[in-house]
Amino acid sequence: MTELGATTEPGRDAGLAKKLFIKTFGCQMNVYDSARMADVLAPLGYAPAAGPEAADMIILNTCHIRDKAAEKVFSELGRLKPMKLARARAGGDLIIAVAGCVAQAEGAEIQRRAPHVDIVMGPQTYHRLPELVARATRAAGGAGGRGILDTEFPAEPKFDGLPEAAAPQGISAFLTVQEGCDKFCTFCVVPYTRGAEYSRPPADLVAEAGRLVAQGAREITLLGQNVNAYRAAGPDGRSWGLGRLIRALADLPGLARLRYTTSHPADMDDDLVAAHAEVPLLMPFLHLPVQSGADRVLAAMNRRHRAADYRRVVDRLRRARPDIALSSDFIVGFPGEDEADFAATLALIEAVGYAQAYSFKYSIRPGTPAATLPDQVPAAVKAARLERLQALLRDQQAAFNRAAVGRTLPVLLERAGRHDGQLAGRSPYAQAVDVAAPEGLLGSVVPVAILAARPNSLAGRLAAADRQVPA
Ligand code: 5AD
Ligand code: SF4
Repeated sequence: MTELGATTEPGRDAGLAKKLFIKTFGCQMNVYDSARMADVLAPLGYAPAAGPEAADMIILNTCHIRDKAAEKVFSELGRLKPMKLARARAGGDLIIAVAGCVAQAEGAEIQRRAPHVDIVMGPQTYHRLPELVARATRAAGGAGGRGILDTEFPAEPKFDGLPEAAAPQGISAFLTVQEGCDKFCTFCVVPYTRGAEYSRPPADLVAEAGRLVAQGAREITLLGQNVNAYRAAGPDGRSWGLGRLIRALADLPGLARLRYTTSHPADMDDDLVAAHAEVPLLMPFLHLPVQSGADRVLAAMNRRHRAADYRRVVDRLRRARPDIALSSDFIVGFPGEDEADFAATLALIEAVGYAQAYSFKYSIRPGTPAATLPDQVPAAVKAARLERLQALLRDQQAAFNRAAVGRTLPVLLERAGRHDGQLAGRSPYAQAVDVAAPEGLLGSVVPVAILAARPNSLAGRLAAADRQVPA
Protein backbone atom coordinates (compact mmCIF):
# COMPACT_ATOMS: atom_id res chain seq x y z
CA MET A 1 0.00 0.00 0.00
CA THR A 2 1.34 3.43 -0.87
CA GLU A 3 0.34 6.95 -0.10
CA LEU A 4 0.66 9.79 -2.50
CA GLY A 5 -0.01 13.49 -2.33
CA ALA A 6 -1.12 15.21 -5.52
CA THR A 7 1.47 17.18 -7.34
CA THR A 8 1.29 20.64 -8.77
CA GLU A 9 3.74 23.27 -9.88
CA PRO A 10 5.29 25.27 -7.05
CA GLY A 11 4.05 28.84 -6.80
CA ARG A 12 0.50 28.02 -7.83
CA ASP A 13 -2.01 30.63 -6.69
CA ALA A 14 -2.33 30.03 -2.95
CA GLY A 15 -5.95 31.19 -3.03
CA LEU A 16 -6.83 28.19 -5.17
CA ALA A 17 -4.69 25.75 -3.27
CA LYS A 18 -6.51 22.67 -2.07
CA LYS A 19 -4.96 19.54 -0.72
CA LEU A 20 -5.33 16.03 -2.07
CA PHE A 21 -4.45 12.78 -0.36
CA ILE A 22 -4.55 9.49 -2.26
CA LYS A 23 -4.21 6.17 -0.47
CA THR A 24 -3.36 3.38 -2.89
CA PHE A 25 -4.05 -0.31 -2.32
CA GLY A 26 -2.91 -3.23 -4.45
CA CYS A 27 -0.97 -3.53 -7.64
CA GLN A 28 1.47 -1.38 -9.60
CA MET A 29 -1.30 -0.49 -12.02
CA ASN A 30 -3.10 1.20 -9.15
CA VAL A 31 0.09 3.07 -8.21
CA TYR A 32 0.28 4.29 -11.81
CA ASP A 33 -3.43 5.21 -11.80
CA SER A 34 -3.03 7.17 -8.55
CA ALA A 35 -0.24 9.24 -10.09
CA ARG A 36 -2.45 9.94 -13.10
CA MET A 37 -5.38 10.96 -10.86
CA ALA A 38 -3.06 13.42 -9.14
CA ASP A 39 -2.06 14.73 -12.60
CA VAL A 40 -5.70 15.18 -13.61
CA LEU A 41 -6.49 17.12 -10.45
CA ALA A 42 -3.37 19.34 -10.46
CA PRO A 43 -4.88 21.90 -12.88
CA LEU A 44 -7.84 22.21 -10.49
CA GLY A 45 -5.43 23.47 -7.85
CA TYR A 46 -5.00 20.29 -5.84
CA ALA A 47 -1.59 20.08 -4.19
CA PRO A 48 -0.19 17.17 -2.18
CA ALA A 49 -1.33 16.74 1.41
CA ALA A 50 1.08 15.21 3.89
CA GLY A 51 -1.69 13.10 5.41
CA PRO A 52 -5.45 12.62 5.38
CA GLU A 53 -5.98 15.16 8.19
CA ALA A 54 -4.62 18.00 6.04
CA ALA A 55 -6.61 17.06 2.93
CA ASP A 56 -9.63 18.71 1.27
CA MET A 57 -10.12 15.58 -0.78
CA ILE A 58 -9.23 11.98 0.02
CA ILE A 59 -9.23 9.27 -2.63
CA LEU A 60 -9.02 5.61 -1.67
CA ASN A 61 -7.72 3.82 -4.77
CA THR A 62 -8.83 0.30 -3.98
CA CYS A 63 -7.91 -3.25 -4.98
CA HIS A 64 -10.35 -6.14 -5.09
CA ILE A 65 -8.03 -9.05 -5.70
CA ARG A 66 -7.28 -10.00 -2.11
CA ASP A 67 -9.61 -11.70 0.33
CA LYS A 68 -11.81 -9.32 2.37
CA ALA A 69 -10.65 -6.40 0.22
CA ALA A 70 -14.06 -4.74 0.37
CA GLU A 71 -14.22 -5.07 4.17
CA LYS A 72 -10.86 -3.31 4.48
CA VAL A 73 -12.20 -0.44 2.39
CA PHE A 74 -15.32 -0.20 4.55
CA SER A 75 -13.26 -0.03 7.73
CA GLU A 76 -11.05 2.63 6.17
CA LEU A 77 -14.18 4.58 5.23
CA GLY A 78 -15.46 4.15 8.79
CA ARG A 79 -12.32 5.90 10.04
CA LEU A 80 -12.88 8.81 7.65
CA LYS A 81 -16.49 9.40 8.74
CA PRO A 82 -15.75 11.28 12.01
CA MET A 83 -13.13 13.32 10.14
CA LYS A 84 -15.73 14.46 7.61
CA LEU A 85 -18.24 15.20 10.38
CA ALA A 86 -15.72 17.29 12.35
CA ARG A 87 -14.80 19.21 9.19
CA ALA A 88 -18.46 19.97 8.47
CA ARG A 89 -19.04 21.14 12.06
CA ALA A 90 -16.12 23.53 11.71
CA GLY A 91 -17.72 24.97 8.54
CA GLY A 92 -15.29 23.19 6.21
CA ASP A 93 -15.63 20.41 3.69
CA LEU A 94 -13.94 17.10 2.99
CA ILE A 95 -14.58 15.27 -0.29
CA ILE A 96 -14.22 11.50 0.00
CA ALA A 97 -13.86 9.43 -3.17
CA VAL A 98 -13.50 5.70 -3.65
CA ALA A 99 -11.77 4.64 -6.87
CA GLY A 100 -10.43 1.39 -8.26
CA CYS A 101 -11.69 -2.16 -8.43
CA VAL A 102 -13.69 -2.28 -5.18
CA ALA A 103 -15.53 0.84 -6.37
CA GLN A 104 -16.27 -0.90 -9.68
CA ALA A 105 -17.46 -4.12 -8.07
CA GLU A 106 -19.28 -2.72 -5.04
CA GLY A 107 -20.32 0.79 -6.08
CA ALA A 108 -23.96 0.57 -4.97
CA GLU A 109 -23.00 -1.23 -1.76
CA ILE A 110 -20.49 1.52 -0.92
CA GLN A 111 -23.18 4.16 -1.36
CA ARG A 112 -25.56 2.15 0.83
CA ARG A 113 -23.14 1.30 3.64
CA ALA A 114 -21.02 4.45 3.55
CA PRO A 115 -23.35 7.32 2.57
CA HIS A 116 -20.69 9.84 3.62
CA VAL A 117 -18.74 8.94 0.46
CA ASP A 118 -19.07 11.67 -2.19
CA ILE A 119 -17.71 10.01 -5.33
CA VAL A 120 -17.49 6.35 -6.37
CA MET A 121 -15.66 5.72 -9.63
CA GLY A 122 -14.34 2.67 -11.43
CA PRO A 123 -10.84 2.34 -12.94
CA GLN A 124 -12.03 3.38 -16.41
CA THR A 125 -13.35 6.83 -15.53
CA TYR A 126 -10.41 8.76 -14.01
CA HIS A 127 -10.29 11.11 -16.98
CA ARG A 128 -13.74 12.30 -15.86
CA LEU A 129 -12.46 13.10 -12.37
CA PRO A 130 -12.42 16.92 -12.89
CA GLU A 131 -16.09 16.79 -13.88
CA LEU A 132 -16.95 14.51 -10.94
CA VAL A 133 -15.11 16.80 -8.53
CA ALA A 134 -16.82 19.87 -10.03
CA ARG A 135 -20.20 18.18 -9.52
CA ALA A 136 -19.24 17.33 -5.93
CA THR A 137 -18.09 20.90 -5.27
CA ARG A 138 -21.32 22.36 -6.67
CA ALA A 139 -23.44 20.10 -4.48
CA ALA A 140 -23.85 21.12 -0.86
CA GLY A 141 -21.07 19.86 1.41
CA GLY A 142 -21.54 18.70 4.97
CA ALA A 143 -21.32 15.45 6.82
CA GLY A 144 -23.35 13.50 4.25
CA GLY A 145 -21.97 12.38 0.91
CA ARG A 146 -22.96 13.68 -2.53
CA GLY A 147 -23.78 10.24 -3.91
CA ILE A 148 -21.97 10.57 -7.26
CA LEU A 149 -21.40 7.23 -8.98
CA ASP A 150 -19.46 6.60 -12.21
CA THR A 151 -18.64 2.95 -12.78
CA GLU A 152 -19.32 2.83 -16.50
CA PHE A 153 -16.94 1.38 -19.04
CA PRO A 154 -17.00 4.46 -21.28
CA ALA A 155 -16.56 4.25 -25.04
CA GLU A 156 -13.77 6.85 -25.02
CA PRO A 157 -10.54 5.34 -23.69
CA LYS A 158 -9.52 7.05 -20.48
CA PHE A 159 -5.92 7.47 -21.62
CA ASP A 160 -7.05 9.90 -24.33
CA GLY A 161 -8.54 12.13 -21.65
CA LEU A 162 -5.58 12.14 -19.28
CA PRO A 163 -3.01 14.92 -19.28
CA GLU A 164 0.69 14.25 -19.68
CA ALA A 165 2.25 13.02 -16.47
CA ALA A 166 3.29 15.98 -14.33
CA ALA A 167 5.32 14.40 -11.57
CA PRO A 168 8.56 12.59 -12.31
CA GLN A 169 8.26 8.96 -11.26
CA GLY A 170 11.92 8.54 -10.50
CA ILE A 171 14.62 6.26 -11.81
CA SER A 172 12.39 3.21 -12.12
CA ALA A 173 9.09 4.20 -13.73
CA PHE A 174 5.86 2.47 -14.68
CA LEU A 175 3.99 2.80 -17.93
CA THR A 176 0.55 1.25 -18.39
CA VAL A 177 0.42 -0.10 -21.93
CA GLN A 178 -2.56 -2.42 -21.66
CA GLU A 179 -5.56 -2.76 -19.40
CA GLY A 180 -8.30 -5.25 -18.78
CA CYS A 181 -8.56 -8.97 -19.31
CA ASP A 182 -10.56 -11.25 -21.61
CA LYS A 183 -9.27 -14.49 -20.09
CA PHE A 184 -11.92 -15.06 -17.41
CA CYS A 185 -10.02 -17.38 -15.11
CA THR A 186 -12.82 -18.73 -12.96
CA PHE A 187 -11.33 -17.49 -9.65
CA CYS A 188 -10.60 -13.92 -10.71
CA VAL A 189 -12.52 -10.62 -10.51
CA VAL A 190 -10.28 -8.66 -12.87
CA PRO A 191 -12.30 -9.18 -16.09
CA TYR A 192 -15.33 -7.78 -14.25
CA THR A 193 -13.62 -4.83 -12.53
CA ARG A 194 -11.16 -3.76 -15.23
CA GLY A 195 -13.25 -4.69 -18.24
CA ALA A 196 -12.19 -5.89 -21.68
CA GLU A 197 -8.60 -5.90 -22.96
CA TYR A 198 -7.49 -2.57 -24.36
CA SER A 199 -4.03 -1.68 -25.73
CA ARG A 200 -2.79 1.89 -25.98
CA PRO A 201 -1.45 3.10 -29.35
CA PRO A 202 2.34 2.59 -29.76
CA ALA A 203 2.95 6.23 -30.76
CA ASP A 204 1.40 7.47 -27.48
CA LEU A 205 3.51 5.00 -25.51
CA VAL A 206 6.78 5.91 -27.22
CA ALA A 207 6.00 9.59 -26.53
CA GLU A 208 5.10 8.95 -22.87
CA ALA A 209 8.18 6.76 -22.39
CA GLY A 210 10.30 9.55 -23.89
CA ARG A 211 8.89 11.99 -21.34
CA LEU A 212 9.60 9.54 -18.51
CA VAL A 213 13.22 9.27 -19.63
CA ALA A 214 13.48 13.06 -19.94
CA GLN A 215 12.24 13.25 -16.33
CA GLY A 216 15.02 10.92 -15.19
CA ALA A 217 13.71 7.39 -15.65
CA ARG A 218 16.40 4.83 -16.54
CA GLU A 219 14.15 1.81 -16.25
CA ILE A 220 10.55 1.46 -17.44
CA THR A 221 8.26 -1.38 -16.43
CA LEU A 222 5.44 -1.85 -18.92
CA LEU A 223 2.22 -2.65 -17.08
CA GLY A 224 -0.93 -4.48 -18.02
CA GLN A 225 -3.28 -6.99 -16.42
CA ASN A 226 -2.41 -9.13 -19.43
CA VAL A 227 0.52 -7.17 -20.74
CA ASN A 228 1.68 -9.70 -23.30
CA ALA A 229 -1.79 -9.70 -24.90
CA TYR A 230 -0.78 -6.19 -26.04
CA ARG A 231 -1.81 -5.61 -29.66
CA ALA A 232 -2.34 -2.30 -31.42
CA ALA A 233 -1.88 -0.65 -34.81
CA GLY A 234 1.64 0.75 -35.14
CA PRO A 235 2.69 3.92 -36.99
CA ASP A 236 3.84 1.64 -39.85
CA GLY A 237 0.26 0.45 -40.31
CA ARG A 238 1.10 -3.01 -38.97
CA SER A 239 -0.28 -4.71 -35.90
CA TRP A 240 2.25 -4.44 -33.07
CA GLY A 241 2.56 -7.01 -30.31
CA LEU A 242 4.51 -6.45 -27.11
CA GLY A 243 7.78 -7.65 -28.66
CA ARG A 244 7.56 -4.98 -31.37
CA LEU A 245 6.68 -2.31 -28.81
CA ILE A 246 9.67 -3.32 -26.66
CA ARG A 247 12.01 -3.01 -29.66
CA ALA A 248 10.70 0.49 -30.37
CA LEU A 249 11.09 1.59 -26.74
CA ALA A 250 14.58 0.09 -26.54
CA ASP A 251 15.72 2.70 -29.08
CA LEU A 252 15.00 5.59 -26.69
CA PRO A 253 18.30 7.30 -25.89
CA GLY A 254 19.02 7.29 -22.16
CA LEU A 255 16.84 4.31 -21.29
CA ALA A 256 18.84 1.51 -19.66
CA ARG A 257 16.31 -1.18 -18.77
CA LEU A 258 12.89 -2.50 -19.74
CA ARG A 259 10.63 -4.94 -17.91
CA TYR A 260 6.99 -5.93 -18.28
CA THR A 261 4.35 -7.45 -16.05
CA THR A 262 1.98 -9.38 -15.75
CA SER A 263 2.05 -11.98 -18.51
CA HIS A 264 -0.22 -14.87 -19.42
CA PRO A 265 1.54 -18.06 -20.62
CA ALA A 266 -0.85 -18.44 -23.57
CA ASP A 267 0.14 -15.01 -24.94
CA MET A 268 3.91 -15.58 -25.05
CA ASP A 269 4.37 -15.25 -28.84
CA ASP A 270 7.57 -15.97 -30.78
CA ASP A 271 8.43 -12.31 -31.37
CA LEU A 272 8.25 -11.56 -27.64
CA VAL A 273 10.38 -14.60 -26.81
CA ALA A 274 12.87 -13.51 -29.49
CA ALA A 275 12.99 -10.03 -27.96
CA HIS A 276 14.44 -11.66 -24.83
CA ALA A 277 17.34 -12.89 -26.98
CA GLU A 278 17.78 -9.79 -29.08
CA VAL A 279 17.03 -6.72 -26.95
CA PRO A 280 19.81 -6.16 -24.39
CA LEU A 281 17.67 -3.64 -22.48
CA LEU A 282 15.04 -6.28 -21.78
CA MET A 283 15.92 -7.65 -18.36
CA PRO A 284 16.23 -11.42 -17.87
CA PHE A 285 13.41 -11.68 -15.36
CA LEU A 286 9.79 -12.58 -15.99
CA HIS A 287 6.72 -12.84 -13.81
CA LEU A 288 4.77 -15.61 -15.54
CA PRO A 289 1.93 -16.89 -13.35
CA VAL A 290 0.98 -20.56 -13.65
CA GLN A 291 -1.42 -20.84 -10.64
CA SER A 292 -1.32 -24.66 -10.53
CA GLY A 293 0.67 -27.59 -11.89
CA ALA A 294 -2.34 -29.93 -12.27
CA ASP A 295 -4.13 -30.06 -15.62
CA ARG A 296 -7.47 -30.90 -13.99
CA VAL A 297 -7.23 -27.77 -11.83
CA LEU A 298 -5.93 -25.61 -14.68
CA ALA A 299 -8.95 -26.66 -16.75
CA ALA A 300 -11.34 -25.86 -13.88
CA MET A 301 -9.60 -22.51 -13.54
CA ASN A 302 -10.13 -21.89 -17.29
CA ARG A 303 -6.44 -21.05 -17.60
CA ARG A 304 -6.26 -22.04 -21.30
CA HIS A 305 -2.97 -23.92 -20.86
CA ARG A 306 -1.83 -27.22 -19.42
CA ALA A 307 1.21 -27.74 -17.21
CA ALA A 308 3.20 -29.05 -20.19
CA ASP A 309 2.30 -25.96 -22.25
CA TYR A 310 3.68 -23.76 -19.49
CA ARG A 311 6.84 -25.87 -19.31
CA ARG A 312 7.26 -25.45 -23.08
CA VAL A 313 6.93 -21.65 -22.78
CA VAL A 314 9.62 -21.70 -20.09
CA ASP A 315 11.87 -23.83 -22.33
CA ARG A 316 11.43 -21.38 -25.24
CA LEU A 317 12.30 -18.46 -22.96
CA ARG A 318 15.37 -20.25 -21.62
CA ARG A 319 16.56 -21.09 -25.11
CA ALA A 320 16.25 -17.39 -25.98
CA ARG A 321 17.79 -16.12 -22.76
CA PRO A 322 19.45 -18.95 -20.80
CA ASP A 323 19.83 -16.96 -17.58
CA ILE A 324 16.21 -15.76 -17.42
CA ALA A 325 14.86 -15.84 -13.87
CA LEU A 326 11.22 -16.64 -13.30
CA SER A 327 8.54 -15.63 -10.88
CA SER A 328 4.96 -16.86 -10.63
CA ASP A 329 1.65 -16.73 -8.80
CA PHE A 330 0.21 -19.88 -7.24
CA ILE A 331 -3.20 -20.65 -5.81
CA VAL A 332 -3.53 -23.62 -3.44
CA GLY A 333 -6.84 -25.19 -2.49
CA PHE A 334 -8.79 -24.31 -5.61
CA PRO A 335 -12.16 -26.13 -5.38
CA GLY A 336 -11.66 -29.82 -6.07
CA GLU A 337 -7.84 -29.74 -5.70
CA ASP A 338 -6.75 -33.04 -4.17
CA GLU A 339 -3.38 -34.23 -2.83
CA ALA A 340 -2.28 -35.51 -6.25
CA ASP A 341 -3.09 -32.16 -7.85
CA PHE A 342 -1.17 -30.34 -5.17
CA ALA A 343 1.77 -32.73 -5.63
CA ALA A 344 1.71 -31.85 -9.36
CA THR A 345 2.08 -28.17 -8.44
CA LEU A 346 5.07 -28.95 -6.21
CA ALA A 347 6.57 -31.04 -9.03
CA LEU A 348 6.16 -28.17 -11.49
CA ILE A 349 7.91 -25.81 -9.07
CA GLU A 350 10.77 -28.31 -8.69
CA ALA A 351 11.07 -28.68 -12.45
CA VAL A 352 10.93 -24.96 -13.34
CA GLY A 353 12.85 -23.44 -10.41
CA TYR A 354 11.74 -19.96 -9.37
CA ALA A 355 13.73 -16.92 -8.31
CA GLN A 356 10.72 -15.64 -6.38
CA ALA A 357 6.95 -16.12 -6.30
CA TYR A 358 3.64 -15.10 -4.77
CA SER A 359 1.28 -17.72 -3.40
CA PHE A 360 -2.24 -17.62 -2.06
CA LYS A 361 -4.95 -19.79 -0.57
CA TYR A 362 -7.92 -19.88 -2.89
CA SER A 363 -10.62 -17.62 -1.55
CA ILE A 364 -14.07 -17.00 -2.91
CA ARG A 365 -14.69 -13.86 -4.96
CA PRO A 366 -18.45 -13.40 -5.15
CA GLY A 367 -19.74 -13.30 -8.72
CA THR A 368 -16.90 -15.41 -10.17
CA PRO A 369 -17.66 -18.91 -11.54
CA ALA A 370 -15.45 -20.73 -9.01
CA ALA A 371 -17.34 -19.18 -6.09
CA THR A 372 -20.21 -21.63 -6.55
CA LEU A 373 -18.15 -24.75 -7.36
CA PRO A 374 -18.71 -27.76 -5.13
CA ASP A 375 -15.75 -29.35 -3.30
CA GLN A 376 -14.44 -26.19 -1.66
CA VAL A 377 -11.23 -27.22 0.14
CA PRO A 378 -11.29 -26.97 3.96
CA ALA A 379 -9.37 -24.00 5.40
CA ALA A 380 -6.95 -26.20 7.38
CA VAL A 381 -6.01 -28.16 4.25
CA LYS A 382 -5.41 -24.95 2.32
CA ALA A 383 -3.25 -23.57 5.13
CA ALA A 384 -1.15 -26.74 5.31
CA ARG A 385 -0.64 -26.83 1.52
CA LEU A 386 0.31 -23.16 1.42
CA GLU A 387 2.91 -23.73 4.11
CA ARG A 388 4.50 -26.62 2.17
CA LEU A 389 4.42 -24.69 -1.10
CA GLN A 390 5.92 -21.57 0.44
CA ALA A 391 8.68 -23.58 2.13
CA LEU A 392 9.72 -24.95 -1.26
CA LEU A 393 9.54 -21.51 -2.92
CA ARG A 394 11.52 -19.96 -0.05
CA ASP A 395 14.25 -22.57 -0.52
CA GLN A 396 14.38 -21.88 -4.24
CA GLN A 397 14.58 -18.12 -3.70
CA ALA A 398 17.33 -18.51 -1.09
CA ALA A 399 19.30 -20.80 -3.44
CA PHE A 400 18.86 -18.36 -6.31
CA ASN A 401 20.13 -15.48 -4.18
CA ARG A 402 23.05 -17.55 -2.81
CA ALA A 403 24.10 -18.37 -6.37
CA ALA A 404 24.72 -14.65 -6.95
CA VAL A 405 27.38 -14.48 -4.22
CA GLY A 406 30.81 -14.19 -5.80
CA ARG A 407 29.39 -12.89 -9.10
CA THR A 408 29.59 -9.32 -10.36
CA LEU A 409 26.19 -8.06 -11.47
CA PRO A 410 25.15 -4.82 -13.15
CA VAL A 411 22.95 -2.96 -10.66
CA LEU A 412 20.75 0.03 -11.44
CA LEU A 413 21.05 2.30 -8.40
CA GLU A 414 17.55 3.58 -7.72
CA ARG A 415 17.32 5.14 -4.26
CA ALA A 416 18.99 5.84 -0.94
CA GLY A 417 19.81 2.67 0.96
CA ARG A 418 18.97 1.51 4.43
CA HIS A 419 22.11 3.02 5.96
CA ASP A 420 24.00 6.27 5.42
CA GLY A 421 26.38 6.04 2.50
CA GLN A 422 24.41 3.18 0.96
CA LEU A 423 22.35 3.09 -2.20
CA ALA A 424 19.77 0.47 -3.13
CA GLY A 425 19.19 -0.91 -6.58
CA ARG A 426 18.22 -4.00 -8.51
CA SER A 427 20.09 -6.72 -10.31
CA PRO A 428 18.95 -7.72 -13.82
CA TYR A 429 17.03 -10.53 -12.09
CA ALA A 430 15.02 -8.00 -10.01
CA GLN A 431 16.90 -8.82 -6.79
CA ALA A 432 17.19 -5.90 -4.38
CA VAL A 433 20.88 -5.02 -3.87
CA ASP A 434 22.40 -2.80 -1.13
CA VAL A 435 25.77 -1.28 -1.88
CA ALA A 436 28.00 1.44 -0.40
CA ALA A 437 28.08 4.10 -3.11
CA PRO A 438 28.08 7.88 -3.44
CA GLU A 439 24.76 9.58 -4.15
CA GLY A 440 26.12 10.86 -7.45
CA LEU A 441 25.81 7.33 -8.83
CA LEU A 442 22.00 7.31 -8.45
CA GLY A 443 20.52 6.41 -11.80
CA SER A 444 23.68 4.64 -13.00
CA VAL A 445 24.06 0.99 -13.83
CA VAL A 446 27.21 -0.06 -11.97
CA PRO A 447 29.02 -3.36 -11.57
CA VAL A 448 28.55 -4.73 -8.06
CA ALA A 449 30.48 -7.63 -6.60
CA ILE A 450 27.89 -9.60 -4.62
CA LEU A 451 29.23 -10.45 -1.17
CA ALA A 452 26.21 -11.78 0.71
CA ALA A 453 22.71 -13.07 0.16
CA ARG A 454 19.81 -12.48 2.52
CA PRO A 455 16.38 -14.08 2.07
CA ASN A 456 15.00 -11.09 0.14
CA SER A 457 18.03 -9.10 -0.95
CA LEU A 458 21.72 -9.07 -1.78
CA ALA A 459 24.59 -6.99 -0.45
CA GLY A 460 27.69 -6.09 -2.43
CA ARG A 461 30.40 -3.56 -3.12
CA LEU A 462 31.19 -1.48 -6.17
CA ALA A 463 33.48 -3.42 -8.49
CA ALA A 464 35.92 -2.10 -11.04
CA ALA A 465 34.06 -1.00 -14.17
CA ASP A 466 36.08 -3.34 -16.39
CA ARG A 467 34.55 -6.30 -14.59
CA GLN A 468 31.02 -5.30 -15.53
CA VAL A 469 29.02 -8.09 -17.12
CA PRO A 470 26.59 -7.03 -19.81
CA ALA A 471 22.89 -7.64 -19.18
N1 5AD B 1 -8.12 -16.56 -4.56
C1 5AD B 1 -6.79 -16.61 -4.36
N2 5AD B 1 -5.89 -15.98 -5.13
C2 5AD B 1 -6.36 -15.26 -6.17
N3 5AD B 1 -5.73 -14.52 -7.10
C3 5AD B 1 -6.65 -13.95 -7.90
N4 5AD B 1 -7.88 -14.31 -7.51
C4 5AD B 1 -7.74 -15.13 -6.43
C5 5AD B 1 -8.63 -15.83 -5.59
N5 5AD B 1 -9.96 -15.82 -5.80
C6 5AD B 1 -4.26 -14.46 -7.23
C7 5AD B 1 -3.79 -15.12 -8.53
C8 5AD B 1 -3.38 -13.94 -9.37
C9 5AD B 1 -2.90 -12.99 -8.31
C10 5AD B 1 -2.77 -11.57 -8.74
O1 5AD B 1 -3.84 -13.09 -7.29
O2 5AD B 1 -2.68 -15.94 -8.23
O3 5AD B 1 -2.40 -14.26 -10.33
FE1 SF4 C 1 -7.40 -12.68 -13.71
FE2 SF4 C 1 -6.82 -14.77 -15.31
FE3 SF4 C 1 -7.14 -12.31 -16.36
FE4 SF4 C 1 -4.95 -12.85 -14.87
S1 SF4 C 1 -5.49 -13.81 -16.83
S2 SF4 C 1 -6.27 -11.02 -14.72
S3 SF4 C 1 -5.81 -14.27 -13.33
S4 SF4 C 1 -8.72 -13.54 -15.34
